[in-house]
Amino acid sequence: MVSWRLTITCVPRRAPLVPSALLCLALTACGGGVHGTPGGAGLRDPYFPKAGNGGYDVGHYALDLRYDPGTGDLTGTAVVTARATQDLTAFDLDLQGLHVDKVTVGGKQARWNRAGQELTVRPHDDLRRGETFRTTVRYSGRPQTITDPDGSKEGWLRTADGALALGEPVGSMAWFPGNDHPFDKASYDVTVTVPKGLQAVSNGELKSETTKNDRTAFVWHTAEPMATYLATVAVGHYTVTRTTLPDGLPVYTAVDPTQVKASRAVLAKLPAIIEWEQDNFGPYPFSSTGVIVDRPGDAGYALETQNRPVFPGAPDTDTLVHELAHQWYGDSVTPRTWQDMWLNEGFATFAEWLWEEDHGGRTVQQIFDKVYATPADDATLWGFPPSKPPSAAYISERPVYERGAMVLQKIRQTVGDDRFHDIIQGWAAAHRHGSADTAEFTAYVEKKAPGKDFTAIWKDWLYGDGKPPSP
Ligand code: TRP
Ligand code: ZN
Repeated sequence: MVSWRLTITCVPRRAPLVPSALLCLALTACGGGVHGTPGGAGLRDPYFPKAGNGGYDVGHYALDLRYDPGTGDLTGTAVVTARATQDLTAFDLDLQGLHVDKVTVGGKQARWNRAGQELTVRPHDDLRRGETFRTTVRYSGRPQTITDPDGSKEGWLRTADGALALGEPVGSMAWFPGNDHPFDKASYDVTVTVPKGLQAVSNGELKSETTKNDRTAFVWHTAEPMATYLATVAVGHYTVTRTTLPDGLPVYTAVDPTQVKASRAVLAKLPAIIEWEQDNFGPYPFSSTGVIVDRPGDAGYALETQNRPVFPGAPDTDTLVHELAHQWYGDSVTPRTWQDMWLNEGFATFAEWLWEEDHGGRTVQQIFDKVYATPADDATLWGFPPSKPPSAAYISERPVYERGAMVLQKIRQTVGDDRFHDIIQGWAAAHRHGSADTAEFTAYVEKKAPGKDFTAIWKDWLYGDGKPPSP
C-alpha cells in the first residue's frame, strides 16, 4: 500500500466539481472540491489481475530507447499520452524492474512510488475525467527476463548479438512503462539507438535510420492500435529484405545471418500465405508485414508480434501460417482478457489446418478426427475447456489451441463452408483494430446463422469439461 494514497492533501483545482457529501465534509478544511480518486492498480483480468491499470486509456506511446548489448543497459524515455476515464489523484503504470529517474505529467514534476510491477504516479495537478494528459517517464537499468506462470521466458531476452523483447502475456512491462493489458490498445512511435553496425527492428514501418557518433537510431512507427503484448524490439545483426506485395503492402524481413539459408524457402511463401489468408480472413489489417528471425535459442517459442512475428530460428510453413493468421485474430481482433486467449490460438491453429486442407494435405475434418481420437483420460487435451484454463499456467496449452480450433470446425460443420467464411471474415471485420470476448463471439455466430442451434457446441466444446460425447 502506498501511504500517501491514504492522506488527503489540498491541491487547488482548475474548476469546481460537484462534490459528494461525504468527501465535501472531509475536505472543508481545504476549501476545495473533490480531488478524484487513484486509478485502480489492475484491470481485474481473471488470469493476470495486476496487469493494466484503471482510470485512463492510452492513445499513444512514444518510446525513445538506447541499448548497449555489451552491458545490457537500457536508457529510456516513455511519453504516454492517455485520456482520464475518471477524476484522478493518482494512477499506475506497469513497470517491472529498471530504475525510474524522473516522472512528469503535463510537463510538471510528479511524485511516484513503486511496489512490485506498479509504478504509481501522483501528478502535481489532479486530472479531470475526459482530460488528455501526457506522462513522461525517464528510466534506466538492465531490463529483466520475466518467467511466466507456465515457466516460459518473456520480457527482455538477451541474445548472442543483442536482445529481443517479447511481451505475451505481461512482458512489455520489462522494457517500458505502460498499461500492460491487451484491452488498452494504442499507436506507437519507437526509436531505438544502438551501437553502429547493429540493427534495431520493431513493429510498423521504419521511418528513418540515422548514424551519428558511433550510434545508429532506428525510428519505427505503428499507426494501427497495438496491444502492449504485441510490441517488440529486436537488436542484433540482421539480413534485411525490403519488398512489396503485388497490392503494395510493404514487407520488411530481418533474419539473423545464421538463419538466412534455412529461412529462404519458407519466407519465399510469405506473399502466397498473406494472399491466401486475405482470401479466407479478409483484408490484411495492417500497413506492413514481415518477420523477425533470430537464432533458435533466442526464445522458446514464436510470437505474433504486430506486423512482424518473431521466430526463434527458421520457421516451418505451419508456424509461419499460424503467426501470420494471428495478425487478424489476436493482433487486429484482440482478446478482451487473457481468458479469451482461445480466440487467438483456436483461430491460428485452425488456420494451419485449413492451409493443409487447401494445399493437398489432410482435410480439417481429418485432423479434427485424429485429435478427437485422443483418449478421454488424456488431460493434456481434455483437461479443461478452451474458454476456461484452470490458471494462468495453462493459457498456452493444447485445449486453448486444438480444442479451440475444434470449436471452429464444429461451427463450420453446422453452417457449411460459405456461411463459415462469412462468419470468420465478418468477425475480423466487426472487431478490426479492437477487442472482443468469448460471449461476443458466440453471440456473433448465432446472429450470422439464424435458425441454427449452437447450444450443444458451446456446452460440449467451448465451456464444458471433459471429452465431448460426439465428434
Ligand atoms: N502465442 C504464441 C503463439 O501461439 C506462443 C507463445 C507465446 C507461447 N508465449 C508462450 C507458448 C508461452 C507457450 C508458452 O504463436
Ligand atoms: Zn498462436
